[in-house]
Amino acid sequence: MADNAARNAYAPYSRFFVGAALLLDSGNMVAGANVENASYRLTTCAEQSAIAHAVCTYGPGIRIRALLITNLNGAACEPCGACRQTIAEFAPPEALILYPTADGRLTQKTFAELLPGAFTLGRP
Ligand code: THU
Repeated sequence: MADNAARNAYAPYSRFFVGAALLLDSGNMVAGANVENASYRLTTCAEQSAIAHAVCTYGPGIRIRALLITNLNGAACEPCGACRQTIAEFAPPEALILYPTADGRLTQKTFAELLPGAFTLGRP
């Protein structure tokens, strides 16, 4: 699913085609791709796109069990800092995050390892 999403990425500026696939606690899976913008900082990352897709499809109560990130460029692709904060909204510390590293392998970490001390306002 992540690879298929990456094939649909809109990345005319960076030519870096990213896909993300979410496994939710419900067992449902949802994908996302990066969507770039001529005003570069308005770009949406694949992880953010997948989370928005999941909320639109399954509602605000979604919880992330696992997230896999891929790209069509054969490059390392750890989630960026902004994505980590976005993931924090919907993922428990034990959620599994999988992504390719520079050696071409898929690495797996818990979300707690990727973002200790996420900012929070508490949940309403
Ligand atoms: N990108 C993602 O989709 N996820 C990340 O975690 C890092 C970067 C995208 C944004 C942009 O379209 C391209 O990769 C190059 O930065």
